[in-house]
Amino acid sequence: MSTQIEETLVLVKPDGVARNLSGEILRRIEAKGYSLVDVKLVEPDRSLLVEHYAEHEGKPFFEPLVEFMESGAILALRIAGERVIDGFRALAGTTDPTTAAPGTIRGDLGRDWGGKVQQNLVHGSDSAESAARELALWFD
Ligand code: RTP
Ligand code: MG
Repeated sequence: MSTQIEETLVLVKPDGVARNLSGEILRRIEAKGYSLVDVKLVEPDRSLLVEHYAEHEGKPFFEPLVEFMESGAILALRIAGERVIDGFRALAGTTDPTTAAPGTIRGDLGRDWGGKVQQNLVHGSDSAESAARELALWFD
């Protein structure tokens, strides 16, 4: 029987880096049993962020989201493990940090700051297709 090791893209967003939560977020990923494959601190060009969030182009939160993602350094992580794509999304919690479940990264460490739902600390790819596309954007 073979096991399928997946990889996914995690971003510690500018709020997470600025609040010195990168270590805490890494700790949770490692404690869950996932492996770090590659890590880098980046200040991406707007074009990369627009491509990364292309599915949201045209939505009312798109421009504030891109501006927020441009507001400081981002820690990009390539992580690996069995079912890591779904597993990291579960670790992260739901999108709105105010109501994300306690026990999750967003639920334990996030909340609204000035009504900005986008400040939710982390991004994780939402499918195998997204993971492949996003890892190529950020790491290749
Ligand atoms: P992500 O892509 O960053 O991992 O987050 P997600 O899947 O949980 O949420 P998604 O629907 O893909 O939205 C992407 C990011 O846009 C911001 N957002 N703001 N109503 C709003 O103001 C709103 N909705 C979404 C969040 O930063 C969200 O993570
Ligand atoms: Mg998403």
